[in-house]
Amino acid sequence: MLQTTFTKTLDIDCPIAQAPMGGSVTPELICAVCEAGGLGMQGVSWHEPAAMVAEIAAIRRRTARPFAVNLALEWEQHTRLAQCIDAGAPVISLFWGDPTAYFPRLRVAKVKTIVTVGSADEARRAADLGADVICAQGIEAGGHVWSKVGTMVLLPAVVDAVAPLPVIAAGGIADGSGLAAVLALGGAGVWIGTRFLATPEAYTHEEWKRRIVAARETDTVYTELLDLDWPKAPHRVLRNSTYEQWEAAGRPPSGQRPGEGEPVARQPDGTILPRYSDSGPAPGASGDIEATCLYAGQSAGLVHDVLPAGALVKRIVAEAEAALASAAAMRRV
Ligand SMILES: Cc1cc2nc3c(=O)[nH]c(=O)nc-3n(C[C@H](O)[C@H](O)[C@H](O)COP(=O)(O)O)c2cc1C
Repeated sequence: MLQTTFTKTLDIDCPIAQAPMGGSVTPELICAVCEAGGLGMQGVSWHEPAAMVAEIAAIRRRTARPFAVNLALEWEQHTRLAQCIDAGAPVISLFWGDPTAYFPRLRVAKVKTIVTVGSADEARRAADLGADVICAQGIEAGGHVWSKVGTMVLLPAVVDAVAPLPVIAAGGIADGSGLAAVLALGGAGVWIGTRFLATPEAYTHEEWKRRIVAARETDTVYTELLDLDWPKAPHRVLRNSTYEQWEAAGRPPSGQRPGEGEPVARQPDGTILPRYSDSGPAPGASGDIEATCLYAGQSAGLVHDVLPAGALVKRIVAEAEAALASAAAMRRV
């Protein structure tokens, strides 16, 4: 297996983290990744306390390997952080905002931390606070996007800023050649989202998976359009009819957009997904699924199949080893 400073720091077998992805990540997905040697991760930013503790227990029942929970700092997360620590989450990941106020508790608990950054300055501040791993998220990423810089430039800039701390890269990576490229840029591993949506274990509508597999690298948009529960937060989604109708209407501001608030689809539990909702469709959702929020990174253009998560982790490692060997052979030509 590929060992790096990232795998050594978190005691995992291969340098692949599965990104937290709202309601799309299941304990089955996390545990399949962990059992294959990677780091599975659950986003708990919006969980009720009891549900969050139950989720952490459900993961722990299925795997003895390290896993992570993720908190978005757009919202105050002190209570959830304390509950995650008490529930025994081995690794905590922080995203979207200044993590300074959370570090005193993390330092006392001695829990491992990953902080997602969008610039070298932010990475330096996270390193000074005591982060164990830095995740550099580039603008290619799917879901909510913190950075304005592409992964190819951001990663080496962050690596230089915080060496020898392990830096992993998010955004634009879906296969082993991406992992090999990250290692060549000085990164210690990858943090992959969109590729893991196209797995049987992801709790994601079949049409969403199908559209990711069918997507070209040019089929996503970086926008603030889908803003109903999280305004002014840039995100990347598949270009769809909701986006195109808004574009055709001259890109009007929130409140004046075509079909503002009208129901587009219904989740299996009956919850309505209105137009411009930032929630993705769950399996069994009905209605105009194409017009809902289908998060995906530019990496969707590299996803060509739906594959079980454990097999996917193993394939990415094997591809990376082959890519590294072929790059070495290229230098001898
Ligand atoms: C559906 C979806 C939901 C996401 N939700 C979160 C989240 O809750 N917390 C977080 O840190 N990142 C979130 N992200 C961003 C990912 O962590 C990661 O940065 C991104 O998926 C990497 O780009 P990729 O999709 O090309 O692999 C989400 C991404 C997707 C696709």
